[in-house]
Amino acid sequence: MEKITVSSQPIEGQKPGTSGLRKKTKVFMGPHYLENFVQAIWNGIGGAAGKTFVLGGDGRYFNERAAQVILRMAAASGAAKVIVGKNAVLSTPAASHLIRKRATDGGIIMSASHNPGGIDEDFGVKFNMANGGPAPEDVTDRMFEATKTLTSYDILETQDIDLSAVGTTRVAGMDVEVVDPVEDYVALMEELFDFDKIRALFATGFKMKFDAMHAVTGPYAHEIFERRLGAPVGSVLNGVPLPDFGGRHPDPNPIWAKPLVDLVMGADAPDFAAASDGDGDRNMILGRGVYVTPSDSLAVLAANAHLAPGYAGGLAGVARSMPTSRAVDRVAEAMGLDCFETPTGWKFFGNLLDAGRATLCGEESAGTGSDHVREKDGVWAVLLWLNILADTGKSVATLLSDHWMTYGRNYYSRHDYEAVDAARASDMIDALRGKLIDLPGQKFAAGIVESADEFAYDDPVDNSRSERQGIRITFEDGSRIVFRLSGTGTVGATLRVYLEAYENNSDKLHAKAEDALSDIIASADQIAGIKAYTGRTAPDVKT
Ligand code: G1P
Ligand code: ZN
Repeated sequence: MEKITVSSQPIEGQKPGTSGLRKKTKVFMGPHYLENFVQAIWNGIGGAAGKTFVLGGDGRYFNERAAQVILRMAAASGAAKVIVGKNAVLSTPAASHLIRKRATDGGIIMSASHNPGGIDEDFGVKFNMANGGPAPEDVTDRMFEATKTLTSYDILETQDIDLSAVGTTRVAGMDVEVVDPVEDYVALMEELFDFDKIRALFATGFKMKFDAMHAVTGPYAHEIFERRLGAPVGSVLNGVPLPDFGGRHPDPNPIWAKPLVDLVMGADAPDFAAASDGDGDRNMILGRGVYVTPSDSLAVLAANAHLAPGYAGGLAGVARSMPTSRAVDRVAEAMGLDCFETPTGWKFFGNLLDAGRATLCGEESAGTGSDHVREKDGVWAVLLWLNILADTGKSVATLLSDHWMTYGRNYYSRHDYEAVDAARASDMIDALRGKLIDLPGQKFAAGIVESADEFAYDDPVDNSRSERQGIRITFEDGSRIVFRLSGTGTVGATLRVYLEAYENNSDKLHAKAEDALSDIIASADQIAGIKAYTGRTAPDVKT
């Protein structure tokens, strides 16, 4: 085993986005690409020497090869120890938990989340801090700066390290501890939720289907839902993780998890269904005959979380990303809780959670989580729903319609225009930005614009400011349109248009979202010229 220094040169475009660095797998496999970025991570965090890290990924193509490189680079840079999930696998929330539980200096998560996997698809690398949460912008900026000046990286020349069995080996002075990826996570879930009560629910014949989408949650779901909670074998669908996720997008939404949606809308519908994404941090919640939007899910969870033992003491506050619907705001108001509005991306919740100012957080993009880790958590959200269903004895549909009766309904939809020409998309946003000052008072299909601005966030904990976080247009009746460009796409630009309308007339709570939103949808195009700029007549994905 010999430590070598390989000379390299800066590679363009290694700027971490909403959630780490994501690129095509072949880009990551290119000469020095991964190595440069890992060296930049070490440089960005002040070196790896003497530190302990967690390492794991969602099992996608290149996961284990990348893990071997990262381990050899950690050893060469003097890290004391790396705790690795068996076969280099850890769900993102499980990695966050391990980072915290073992009081490490942070961790590296290999994933491109809900993006497809495979040699022609996507890969990603993200650094999480000692609190278990994604590195904040000042740290990712330092990493990016390091990628621009890098001239070499350190790596150990050695055989592959065996990651297939639990135990500790020593590699050039560094401990590599291979752990069961599921065990610690399950123990945490048992602390937070009433497993006896959920088990009793399943014992009544309650039927659930959980679609693991051939991604990382398969082993977690088999262990928790089937083995510990007694759901019948077969309750977990697509539970075998595959490097290409079976060739599909491991994204739990009505488009990519359509078979599950069809199931709950059909004659043989289970009582409850859910899905999670590539790395296990997203969730989709369904009941017999009903799809729960992520924004509504956050609101229902906020209103009922106290029914689960881990939250029996109540919530310190709630937080949502700016484009997420304002359904949770109504719950917070009724319960007298603080409600924070943050930019898109889980990293912005970290400070609020660390400071004890929020307990529950969520994003419209199928992300919900709490202060138990510093990532969103798919299986956790499913368990909280199960705990609430078991406690109230209500069906998902009843729970949701009771919620709307109490708080009103925030109709909501997101329209995505994918792989749009990047220059045209940014021209569109620039043009919108230029119009903001004139929009208030103007009339569109959805009514008169009350306010229009570009969202900037002043973090109440560390006082940092994040600008240009999306354009918000609010109408006099409380409807809202948000425009922003994705920070996770890998091809061209993805334009996201978030549409929301509030309704509290009890006779109008059960319309189709697209119908209830039709005027808002028309207004979005009138205001931004989506068709003219993108050349698209319809969105690629509606969620
Ligand atoms: C998307 C979602 C965002 C989420 C992120 C990582 O980011 O919109 O809510 O935090 O993926 O899962 P975007 O592509 O919009 O920048
Ligand atoms: Zn994810």
